[in-house]
Amino acid sequence: MTDRNPSSPATRVVAADADGIAEAAQALRDGALVAFPTETVYGLGADATDDLAVAAIFEAKGRPSFNPLIVHVADAEAAKRLAVFDDRATTLVETLWPGPLTLVLKRRRDCPLSLLVSAGLDTVAIRVPANPVARKLLAAADRPIAAPSANRSGTVSPTTPQHVLDGLGGRIALVLAGGRCEIGLESTVLDLSADDPVLLRPGGVTRETLEALIGPVGLPAVTATGSAARRSPGLLSRHYAPSVPIRLDVLRARPGEALLAFGPAPANDGPAMNLSPTADLAEAAANLFAMLRALDQSAVSAIAVMPIPERGLGIAINDRLRRAAAPDDDDAGNRID
Ligand code: TXA
Ligand code: MG
Repeated sequence: MTDRNPSSPATRVVAADADGIAEAAQALRDGALVAFPTETVYGLGADATDDLAVAAIFEAKGRPSFNPLIVHVADAEAAKRLAVFDDRATTLVETLWPGPLTLVLKRRRDCPLSLLVSAGLDTVAIRVPANPVARKLLAAADRPIAAPSANRSGTVSPTTPQHVLDGLGGRIALVLAGGRCEIGLESTVLDLSADDPVLLRPGGVTRETLEALIGPVGLPAVTATGSAARRSPGLLSRHYAPSVPIRLDVLRARPGEALLAFGPAPANDGPAMNLSPTADLAEAAANLFAMLRALDQSAVSAIAVMPIPERGLGIAINDRLRRAAAPDDDDAGNRID
């Protein structure tokens, strides 16, 4: 594969002046990973319309599953080109953007974002950060930027450039060094994609502030296993799952089945797609949700998936495929990072 984010010692740290911001914006436009400051925590940014760039985020973080990511945009107008805004969303953002509030909304039909940022869901989480460096970067990049916290999965979120380097040095192209994050705690995540607003993650904007603007805001239901309490709320049973069964670790599809191949593949009578003919896991991750959806719509009895190696991004791909194969499996492996 082409290595867009060459490994150590290539991580450059640049000051957040005009030159640094221009370099960071160009790197993002080229598909590279750039850590940048927001008012909450440092984000690990990538072009949210570029499947491969988004896949590289998961790779750099060592994330064992594909959780949906927050998309950052320069202003509400840009957000409205991506997602469906109702009166509640409009009211909230008039008062609270830019700032530490993320809204989960339905993707627009013509939404140009990678399906991987939504982990295959028909919703997307969006926010307009207040940090001036982040705002200048978004304006210069002139495209939506997906950015989870810029740390390795399972470690604490970074609030200084040094924290970012400690975790991701050698794994990403650039750190835009813009000092310490004022808030130091991730944004509030509010799900407005259904009738009742649900507070998925507490953060800088309080529930009281939200309720003063749009009325009652609920908390996620706790499942029988209590797993919603583990702060991966809103996602339980809401992962995208194909409507037909999935069979894993299959070398040859049966008649009537679609084949989702990986690497050199046998001929298939029915519909077939290849996640990566060259067995490149980043390419496979980038294609995963779009190909599952396409095969799901092709009137087959099942989707047969060839074996994917259980290493690197393959771990997240297999996690996702196992959940798709067993949609009732509550939230196995769902975790926060
Ligand atoms: O403060 C922040 O929000 C930081 C900075 C960098 O902006 N970003 C951040 O991003 O924390 P991330 O991707 O790590 O947070 C994603 C959160 C997770 O709790 C995830 O479950 C939720 O947002 N989320 C994202 N998309 C979602 C969706 N479509 N539906 C439900 N929840 C979603
Ligand atoms: Mg995080």
